Amino acid sequence: MGHRNAMVELDLRDPLWERFFLVAPLVLIGTREADGHYDLAPKHMAMPVSWDNHFGFVCAPTHGTYVNAVREREFTVSYPTSDQLVMTSLMAAPRRDDGTKPNVRLLALTPATRVSAPLVEGASLQLECRLERTVDGLGLNSLVIGRVISAHAPAAVLRASERDDADVLREQPLVAYLHPGRFAVIGDSRSFPMPADMRR
Ligand SMILES: Cc1cc2nc3c(=O)[nH]c(=O)nc-3n(C[C@H](O)[C@H](O)[C@H](O)COP(=O)(O)O)c2cc1C
Repeated sequence: MGHRNAMVELDLRDPLWERFFLVAPLVLIGTREADGHYDLAPKHMAMPVSWDNHFGFVCAPTHGTYVNAVREREFTVSYPTSDQLVMTSLMAAPRRDDGTKPNVRLLALTPATRVSAPLVEGASLQLECRLERTVDGLGLNSLVIGRVISAHAPAAVLRASERDDADVLREQPLVAYLHPGRFAVIGDSRSFPMPADMRR
């Protein structure tokens, strides 16, 4: 048996991202379907992609979310809380044979202010985005990039000069998706050891 700390070369013919755990966010992307109904789909390959209010997520171009975002040129991002995880997961259940996704009605939605797409009520962060561009041909996936044109969050999740950052996270823990197939709720955090005089 090999030593536990010996490095193992991974066979790249196997799905690489299934071989170990990585920390990822978990969001629900909201879009409007061609028939006017709302769609929501969970994504873990999703994050800010600039300091300048750009948000990107990775999506299969065959998914309703991609088709909707490209057609409507807008989408929303809702960060679910830990008690919204089951509902979040149900948004990835297969569509009906007629292409509809009735599960979306299970979630309490709140209208977006600047785009025609759904936001999840009670989410810990809600972003409304205008489509900027897609980067297609990443294997079977595409990167969809939008610019945030409106953002809402409960006051309790916001950092403030009179609140310790550690207390914010303890009182409003974050959901992490631990790909593949696990999650964690993170309330315990420490200050990162930044180098002196660092500039971003
Ligand atoms: C936890 C979780 C994370 C997911 N992350 C992604 C992702 O990052 N990109 C993606 O294309 N699909 C992802 N999916 C799958 C889509 O959510 C799923 O295929 C969904 O049904 C697509 O719906 P749509 O056709 O309405 O877009 C994820 C599913 C789950 C349950």
